[in-house]
Amino acid sequence: MHVIVGITGGIAAYKATGIIRQLTEAGHTVKVIPTQNALRFIGAATLEALSHNKVDSDLYTDVESVKHVQLGQQADLVIVAPASASFIARYAAGIADDLLGNILLVTTAPVIIAPAMHTEMWKHEATQANISKLAARGVRVLEPSSGRLTGSDSGVGRLPEAGAIVEFALAQIAGDDLLGKRFLVTAGGTREEIDPVRFIGNKSSGKQGIEIALEAQRRGAIVTLIAANVANVPSSLNTVIEVVSALELENVLANKLAEIDCLVMAAAVSDFRVDKPFVQKIKRSEIGTTFDIQLRANTDVLVGAVERIRSEGLKVLTVGFAAETSESTEELMELANLKLIAKGCDVIIANDVSNGKVFEKDENAAIILSSDGSAIQASGKKSFVASKIIDVLVDLLKK
Ligand code: CTP
Repeated sequence: MHVIVGITGGIAAYKATGIIRQLTEAGHTVKVIPTQNALRFIGAATLEALSHNKVDSDLYTDVESVKHVQLGQQADLVIVAPASASFIARYAAGIADDLLGNILLVTTAPVIIAPAMHTEMWKHEATQANISKLAARGVRVLEPSSGRLTGSDSGVGRLPEAGAIVEFALAQIAGDDLLGKRFLVTAGGTREEIDPVRFIGNKSSGKQGIEIALEAQRRGAIVTLIAANVANVPSSLNTVIEVVSALELENVLANKLAEIDCLVMAAAVSDFRVDKPFVQKIKRSEIGTTFDIQLRANTDVLVGAVERIRSEGLKVLTVGFAAETSESTEELMELANLKLIAKGCDVIIANDVSNGKVFEKDENAAIILSSDGSAIQASGKKSFVASKIIDVLVDLLKK
């Protein structure tokens, strides 16, 4: 997607760096258009490095390319953050005296503005009238948050965090094909305690599960994420329940199963736990050269959920993951088929995790296999793979 990030003159201009980074990391092409005053707060070099693109703020360079028209027409989305009181006034009045103002009058793409200013300026009648005018024209306004402002004072007027701005923007253009659907997504990897400082864990970072949760929420679903030891859980998700072990995950899930339309088991759940975890830290000096730990099998949470859904007549679409090491797409497909049958779920998403692929990475290559026999391959950024998975789930939820 071609995204224009407009930055206007305010201290929060430096926070636009987070927005640019998140958008480029998600695979979008970002063109930053700061106003002249924005460049008093943040340097063009920083913006160019982060956006991997030339930064432009001057209407009167490269005139022959008619760039204000070209950029406005090319944009799929425009985000202005921070949007200063003065910018909001000019935009509301339709003033096009700089490159950003011109682009905004040309573009037909959705425009999102994130105002940031002192509380008094935000609450001023003039600002509020301008905001109402823009909202009536279809501009989507992300209300400023409350908190510490530039000086020692606090109040409404802070620019929301970069993640919240990006999520708000993407949600505006994602459509609402999951409106009202309740999703339960598990992500991350469980940890089984050996003693108070050691555990048995796995390599799952939770990135793919988080992208699925975010995409479902963008499209209108009410999402609960069960996060097992995930490092950076986005604050924009509806509900997040943190768990550590497979048993905890199983218990949380059991309480939610009757309330959901779709269960996505992206978490890598440990198949075994330590039978009797040590209460005290095991001392190196107290063990010899070998050390035995007795493991006990955990319940297969997905299989248990599928069985309960069947026996209680619940209407829940179930999605499992299969992390496999395979030598070809055909072999991966075969393994995915076997797992689909073994788990009894409606969809299996199979990944080849051999040679360090997938785990902790931002990219994934997956086969999305449904119990009706249809199979789709998706590869690229985990956010892209998530959107393909959600496309499949949207169709299955209609049946
Ligand atoms: N899973 C689960 N409970 C477990 C283990 C796995 O719910 N105790 C779920 C995972 O969330 C995932 C799916 O089962 O959706 C696939 O697990 P997989 O990695 O294939 O592990 P196993 O089922 O143990 O299969 P394998 O024999 O290939 O290890």
